[in-house]
Amino acid sequence: MTTRREFVKNTVITSAALGLAPALSSALAGCAPSDRINVGLIGCNGMGFADLTAFLEHPQVECLGLCDIDESVLNRRAADVEKIRGKKPANLYKDWRKLIENKDINLVIIGTPDHWHCLQMVAACEAGKDVYCEKPIGRTIEECNQMISAAKKYKTVVQVGQWQRSDPHWLDAVNFIRSGKLGKIRLVRVFSYQGWCPSIPVLADEPVPAGVDYDMWLGPASNRPFNRNRFHFTFRWFWDYAGGLMTDWGVHLLDYALFGMNVTAPKSVMAMGGKYGYPADACETPDSLQAIYEFDGFNILWDHAIGINDGAYGRNHGLGFVGENGTLVIDREGWEVIPEVVDGTTRMEALSLKKGTGQGLRNHVTNHLDCIKSRNQDTNASIEIGAHIAKFSSLGNIAYRTGKKLVWDGTKFTNDQDANKYLIPDYRGPWKLPQV
Ligand SMILES: NC(=O)c1ccc[n+]([C@@H]2O[C@H](COP(=O)([O-])OP(=O)(O)OC[C@H]3O[C@@H](n4cnc5c(N)ncnc54)[C@H](O)[C@@H]3O)[C@@H](O)[C@H]2O)c1
Repeated sequence: MTTRREFVKNTVITSAALGLAPALSSALAGCAPSDRINVGLIGCNGMGFADLTAFLEHPQVECLGLCDIDESVLNRRAADVEKIRGKKPANLYKDWRKLIENKDINLVIIGTPDHWHCLQMVAACEAGKDVYCEKPIGRTIEECNQMISAAKKYKTVVQVGQWQRSDPHWLDAVNFIRSGKLGKIRLVRVFSYQGWCPSIPVLADEPVPAGVDYDMWLGPASNRPFNRNRFHFTFRWFWDYAGGLMTDWGVHLLDYALFGMNVTAPKSVMAMGGKYGYPADACETPDSLQAIYEFDGFNILWDHAIGINDGAYGRNHGLGFVGENGTLVIDREGWEVIPEVVDGTTRMEALSLKKGTGQGLRNHVTNHLDCIKSRNQDTNASIEIGAHIAKFSSLGNIAYRTGKKLVWDGTKFTNDQDANKYLIPDYRGPWKLPQV
C-alpha cells in the first residue's frame, strides 16, 4: 500500500520523469492570456510541491513564484520546476507577504504547516487571489470561521487539499451507503494505523540552520529554541503547530464518515489515548487514540496508531460503515461490502472490491481550475467542507486534552468552559488572528 510519503514522492517524480517539460512550455505559449493561471506556492518542501506539480500538468498554468523560509528547500524546488517546465520560476521569496503582493500571481497554493494556513489564506483572499489550501485548513475553530468569512467576502475560489473528495470511488460508496441496503448503521469505524511513521527520538535544541528564517517559520506560534523534531514534516506531532494523526489523517477519513451518514455536528465527544507505543519519544500528540463522537442512534469511532499497521478489516486505514445487514469498508484503494452472517443467515450479498482510480489529486486540481474559470466557489472540497471537517477532527483532540466527555452545540462546548479556551488560538505578536 502506498504510504503518504511515497505518494508525495511519486507524485513529484512522475511529472518530472515523464519529461513533460517541453510539451507544456510550448502549450503555454499558445494559451490565450485570459486563460492563463499564474501560480505562487508558499511552503515548498512536501505536499505543497506535490500540489504544484499536479497544477503544472495543465498547460495553462505557469509557476510565477515560490516561497519558503528555508533557502535549501527553495533552491531545490526551483530546480525541480526547471526540470518540469524548462525554466526556474521568475520570483523566489523567503517572505510570503511579498509573494502575495505580486499582482501577476492569481492563484496561491498554501503548503505550509497548519499553524500558518489561516493567516496566509486570508491575506491571499484579501489580495484578490484564488487559493488552494492544504488541509487541515486551521488548527482551531475560530481560524476556520475567519477563513470561511474571507472566502465569502472576497469571492475567492478555494479548493482545500482533501483530494479524496475528487476520487470517484468515495462518492460511489456514499451512494451505496445512502441507498439503505446496509440496514440501520450503528457505527462508523474510522481508523488510521501508520506503521511507516517512525517514532522520533528526543533531540537537543540546536542553532538555527543557515538559510532558515526560523522566526518566520514560527510565525504566530510560541517562541522557543530551534529543534529539528519540530521542523519539516514532524511539526505535525506538536500541539503548537498541528494536531497529530487525529487531524492529519482525520480530516481525510472522518470527512467521509460525516458525508456518508449525511450528518454535521455531534452531540458529544470523548477520547482516550496516549503515548502507549513510544512513551519516551519526542512527540506531544498521542501515538494511540480513540475518540467517540455521539450522534442520534449511532456513533463515529476514530481510532489511530503510529508505528503499527493492523487497523481493521486487514487494512491500515479506512472506514467501516457497520450496518444490520453488512459492513461497507472503504479506503484509498477501493470499497467492498462484507455481509452479516447471523444464525446461519447471510443478510445481504457480498460485493467484491471496487477499485478507485488513484487519480484523486489530479482530478482535484482539474476541478479547481474548472471552478476558477467559471468563478464557481462550489469546488469539490470548498472552504465550508474543509472548515467543517477541520473543526470536527479538532473536537477529538480537545476531548483528549481535557480528558472529559464534552457536549457540543455546534459552536461551543456547553458543559465545560475550560474546553472552550481551545476554540480560539493565542497568536504570538505581532501576528494577529484575522478578523474578517
Ligand atoms: N492533502 C494531503 O494528502 C496532504 C499530505 C501531506 C501533507 N499535507 C498538508 O500539507 C501541509 C504541509 O505539510 P508537509 O508535510 O508538506 O510539511 P513540510 O514541513 O514538509 O513542508 C512545509 C514547508 O513550509 C515551509 N514554511 C513554513 N513556514 C513558512 C512560511 N511562513 N512561509 C513560507 N514557507 C514556510 C517549510 O520551510 C517547509 O518547507 C500540512 O498542512 C499538511 O497537513 C496534506
